Amino acid sequence: MARPFESPRSILITGASSGIGEALARVYAAPGTALALTGRDHARLAAVAEACRSMGAVVRAEAFDIVRARERLAVWIAEADAAAPLDLAIANAGVSAGTGGGAETAAQARHLLDTNVGGVVDTVLPAVELMRPRGHGQIAIMASLAAFRGFPGAPAYCAGKAAVKVWGEALRGELHEAGIGVSVICPGYVKSRMTADNSFPMPLLMEADRAARIIRRGLARNRARIAFPWPLYAAVWLISVLPPSLTDPLLRRLPKKQ
Ligand SMILES: NC(=O)c1ccc[n+]([C@@H]2O[C@H](COP(=O)([O-])OP(=O)(O)OC[C@H]3O[C@@H](n4cnc5c(N)ncnc54)[C@H](OP(=O)(O)O)[C@@H]3O)[C@@H](O)[C@H]2O)c1
Repeated sequence: MARPFESPRSILITGASSGIGEALARVYAAPGTALALTGRDHARLAAVAEACRSMGAVVRAEAFDIVRARERLAVWIAEADAAAPLDLAIANAGVSAGTGGGAETAAQARHLLDTNVGGVVDTVLPAVELMRPRGHGQIAIMASLAAFRGFPGAPAYCAGKAAVKVWGEALRGELHEAGIGVSVICPGYVKSRMTADNSFPMPLLMEADRAARIIRRGLARNRARIAFPWPLYAAVWLISVLPPSLTDPLLRRLPKKQ
């Protein structure tokens, strides 16, 4: 049986200048592959692009802020698709913050939601509209295991990840007939700039390149949900189904993200 998602040849990745997005760019980089990469930091993005070119990929890289330059994002996606029709778009860019430094402010919550929800929506929908007439394509949405329950240490982060997780699950059903796959990615702790300043213990913390390989495998199989590592997935799932009266006292004691 044909496996339409096995070998994507044209891949767009937001948040490719660092961490999981960079690792994904590197695992997909190969001769015959076109990569469209974005992030904010010019120098880091250029270094990732150069590394991917040295692995044989054709790379378009442009640094800009996907929230402040929403219009540019739509044009950039269209340009990438015109150069090499997209097989896979990975909406990965994200930011994190929590209540470690005090209560979440409206500005902090809005910034997190604008990036982690708005940035994902503004990446996914233009890509879907380009894929739809072709009856082929795949969307990957970066959520988190933090999407399964609101943790007091990171309210807006959890809320944003829950929003894109549920949105992606719904889109998958909606886009099935159009031949477009949608996967929601829910990693646990992964080494990156985002987790580098966490001073608390991070159970089962994994290297970004290992996470990227797990994600690539899940996407090749068009998995609805790519959640890992499984013991942490099992733990958050259990916390999500237990009554809040049991879990709240425990969650209040967990460390808070700065
Ligand atoms: N690390 C974890 O443990 C973990 C776990 C679950 C989910 N995730 C999710 O995985 C994704 C990647 O995070 P990461 O851990 O790899 O962190 P990271 O190393 O900080 O990477 C985040 C990426 O997003 C980009 N980005 C952020 N805001 C942006 C904006 N407004 N416009 C354009 N690009 C923007 C960053 O660009 P610049 O660096 O160039 O500014 C960077 O490339 C995020 O969605 C995160 O929530 C991470």
